[in-house]
Amino acid sequence: MDAMECLMGRQSTPAGLLVEPAPSDGEVLTLLQTAMRAPDHGALRPWRFLIIRGGRRQDLGDIFAAALARREPEAGSDEVEKARGKPMRAPLVLAVWAEIVENHPKVPPIEQVVATGAAAQNLLNALHAQGYDAILVTGAPCYDENVKAPLGLAPKDTLVGFIHIGTAKQMTPMKKRPDPADYLQTW
Ligand SMILES: Cc1cc2nc3c(=O)[nH]c(=O)nc-3n(C[C@H](O)[C@H](O)[C@H](O)COP(=O)(O)O)c2cc1C
Repeated sequence: MDAMECLMGRQSTPAGLLVEPAPSDGEVLTLLQTAMRAPDHGALRPWRFLIIRGGRRQDLGDIFAAALARREPEAGSDEVEKARGKPMRAPLVLAVWAEIVENHPKVPPIEQVVATGAAAQNLLNALHAQGYDAILVTGAPCYDENVKAPLGLAPKDTLVGFIHIGTAKQMTPMKKRPDPADYLQTW
């Protein structure tokens, strides 16, 4: 695929439409080479990725459910079960986070999060280039210490999102995009 065609053709697929095939662990490693090319002040390599597939998605769902029950004790069982089912929507979930270096003299945490977001975007483009479909999602679990800790994150670390990956079982209509001229000025 031509590079511009790829970049201008990527769009997210709702997680519920993602089915097998998803990339193998080896393919994920290859695709992650693009993430290693994200802009990265201080070469801190703050990005971290965790493969969650098969039964581990259920484990993640259990973490989501338990965290919701603690966060919102008044949540109904239907809401808790909905949270539990979230990671099951796609065959592969990649947790993406920034392992933050605190008190760095030149690179504040926000720059480390930006670098990790850029790494995630490179990965989304690479997935598209290889014919896979994906979506980055966050929601309350990303900001919940009871989700971060069991995944191995420290409180200082920022969970950037969960990239749900697979192959779209049906085409999503191409979204109309804004006119970039509306977002550009010349100073
Ligand atoms: C940091 C971040 C968090 C997001 N979290 C969610 C989310 O929790 N749920 C969701 O449906 N979309 C979420 N999105 C939006 C989707 O990833 C996606 O960008 C959106 O559906 C638009 O699709 P597009 O990528 O084709 O423009 C998030 C996007 C970003 C950048």
